[in-house]
Amino acid sequence: MEAAAVLSVLLLCATVHTTVAVTDGLLWNGNFELGPKASDMKGSEVLKHDAIPGWTIFGFVEYIKSGQKQGDMLLVVPEGAYAVRLGNEATIEQTINVTKGMYYSITFSAARTCAQEETLNVSVAPDFGVLPMQTLYSSNGWDSYAWAFQAEYTTATIKLHNPGVEEDPACGPLIDSIAIKTLYPPKPSRVNILKNGGFEEGPYIFPNTSWGVLVPPNIEDDHSPLPAWMVESLKAVKYIDSDHFSVPQGRRAVELVAGKESAIAQVARTVVGKTYELLFAVGDASNSCEGSMVVEAFANKETLKVPYESKGKGGFKRAVLRFVATSTRTRIMFYSTFYTMRSDDFSSLCGPVVDDVKLLSVRNPRRLA
Ligand SMILES: *[C@@H]1O[C@H](CO)[C@@H](O)[C@H](O)[C@H]1NC(C)=O
Ligand SMILES: *[C@@H]1O[C@H](CO)[C@@H](O)[C@H](O)[C@H]1NC(C)=O
Ligand SMILES: *[C@@H]1O[C@H](CO)[C@@H](O)[C@H](O)[C@H]1NC(C)=O
Repeated sequence: MEAAAVLSVLLLCATVHTTVAVTDGLLWNGNFELGPKASDMKGSEVLKHDAIPGWTIFGFVEYIKSGQKQGDMLLVVPEGAYAVRLGNEATIEQTINVTKGMYYSITFSAARTCAQEETLNVSVAPDFGVLPMQTLYSSNGWDSYAWAFQAEYTTATIKLHNPGVEEDPACGPLIDSIAIKTLYPPKPSRVNILKNGGFEEGPYIFPNTSWGVLVPPNIEDDHSPLPAWMVESLKAVKYIDSDHFSVPQGRRAVELVAGKESAIAQVARTVVGKTYELLFAVGDASNSCEGSMVVEAFANKETLKVPYESKGKGGFKRAVLRFVATSTRTRIMFYSTFYTMRSDDFSSLCGPVVDDVKLLSVRNPRRLA
């Protein structure tokens, strides 16, 4: 009796995360509201490596106050009143304690300040990702981006580097609000062969931002900020939350914002000769994204085009794609056939929402047929 009690306590302890090295949310001074002393600045330029609390900087870094002018452009900051700008080859970094082996995603907000294509190199050694910021998805010029890593050590130095070599040193991305979130690798369940089919596990979304988070392209599935899913295409997909958008199921979903250039995919384990059904929801995010939309779903060699008439006010329909597996690994993929622009703002790309993706094996295909 007593032994059983002790055992159950031990089991309970084993399942609880005993050391939580990281709290989900902003890094220390992650929104740069704490600034350098006036004596550590020359104009907007930050002069010392350690002048911004919590951060170490290298190269030409500016401390920007919201409302500051650059030429005839007014610089606006999404969170609070301050942000930083990374000049050519400039870096900001912060070292945090992490749990070795765990997966983490970083979310940050960034805006271009010049017309050129800009990129940011986000890294935690030995991993890095060069994220393109060429296309604007939100009307105020700011977008949030996600990137993920697996901790190889008990500390992680998160670096954001501008690899650009612009002629105008005042060009370079503005950065604000850098946050972290621990990712728990999802598992397939008895009711779904796919992992994370509802997209509930994913990068941190700032509670105060209403533009979602871009999950950049060319991400391998073991280091995806959207666990188990890959973004295989040229452009990002947008991760959205039910606090700011209409979401078919649960609290999170994915908006396919760049037509055929933005696809999400997952490889599922399947049994050759078995019949499967891919079930999913297609809708709109209630973000003034109006018009005739089509989501194309792919499984093995089968394709299903799901038309959806969006009034831009939310809503969804369900669809099923049935296929017979011809391999032990079947690639599931979704993309949007068309490009769509928001009706309230003709500079922002938008698109259909995909959510609640389930893959089930059909026990008795003939009876259901
Ligand atoms: C990391 O952990 C060490 C103790 O292991 C502690 O001294 C240090 O303050 C921690 N650093 C941060 C940034 O929390
Ligand atoms: C990105 O940054 C990492 C770490 O500083 C570096 O190792 C890597 O070479 C950089 N990649 C590019 C393409 O600049
Ligand atoms: C959201 O905004 C409120 C009020 O402006 C602020 O107090 C809070 O710190 C912000 N939260 C985050 C996570 O940025």
